[in-house]
Amino acid sequence: MRQQDKIPFRKIISMVSLLNVVSDHVICPVNSNNESDFYEYEYLDETYDLCIPGCSVCDYLDRFILVLPTDADQRRILWEYLYENHVTDYEHMIDTDHNLQCIQQMLDILQNKIHSSELNVLDFGCGTGLSAKAVFPGRIYGYDMNKNMREAASQKGMKVMEEKEFWTLPKEYFHGILASYAFHMAIRVQEIEKLVFILKKEGILVANYYKEMDCERINNMLTFFHMSIVERIEDRRFGQIYVYRK
Ligand SMILES: C[S@@+](CC[C@H](N)C(=O)[O-])C[C@H]1O[C@@H](n2cnc3c(N)ncnc32)[C@H](O)[C@@H]1O
Repeated sequence: MRQQDKIPFRKIISMVSLLNVVSDHVICPVNSNNESDFYEYEYLDETYDLCIPGCSVCDYLDRFILVLPTDADQRRILWEYLYENHVTDYEHMIDTDHNLQCIQQMLDILQNKIHSSELNVLDFGCGTGLSAKAVFPGRIYGYDMNKNMREAASQKGMKVMEEKEFWTLPKEYFHGILASYAFHMAIRVQEIEKLVFILKKEGILVANYYKEMDCERINNMLTFFHMSIVERIEDRRFGQIYVYRK
C-alpha cells in the first residue's frame, strides 16, 4: 500500500517566507504562486499542532496544515487566502450541527443577559448564515468579510451587510454581538473598535476561541476599549467561550 493510501490527506498552506519550517515534511509541492507569496503542498503524515519561533503550525478543519506567521497582519493575509481559495464549500468541510449548537448557545447567552424587549444582534463572521436556522426571538444581522459567505448567508434569508454597511453602522446599534469560530482569524484592532462602537451601553459580546488562538490578543484589545469580561465558559465542545459587557 502506498503511503498516500493509508494516511489522511492534508494540504499545507504556508507563506513562502516560512517554507523552511515545513520543508522536512513536504511530500510534493502542488502549487506555488510567488505573486501572492504562498506555497501549497500535499502533506501526508500525522496531524499535529506545533509552536515554532516565527510561526505556529495548526491542523485546521481536518484538511489543512496552516503555517501561521506570528505577525497578525501576515496571519490575516493567510486566513483570507485560505478562505478565498480553499474553503469554497464550507458547509461540507465542517459539522454544521456542531456549529449551529455553538451559535445557539451564544444566542441563548445573549437572550439571558440582555434585558430589553427588543433584540438586535450582529453575527460577526456569519459564514454561510447558520444562525438563520437558530431559535431566537430577536433579529439577527450577518456580516462576513468573505463575499461568497455573504452570498450564501443571504440565500438562507439572513439580513446580510456588505462591507460598506458594516463600516458605516451608527454608534450603539446592536444589543448583542456573537462571533462563532471567527475571532481566531487575525481580527484587526479597527474591527474590534468598530464592534465596541456599534454595541449599546451594557450590550453583550459573546465569542469562542478555536484552539484558544488569539484569545489573549483580542482580550487585550477589548479591555483597552473598556469592555469587561463577565464570564468565561470552558466548553469541551466549543473551546473557551467569553462573554463581555460594554
Ligand atoms: C470558521 S468560519 C465560521 C462561520 C460561522 N460563524 C460558523 O460558526 O459556522 C469563520 C468566518 O469568519 C469570517 N471572518 C473572519 N475574520 C473576519 C473579519 N475580520 N471580518 C468579518 N468576517 C470575518 C470568515 O470569512 C469566515 O466566514
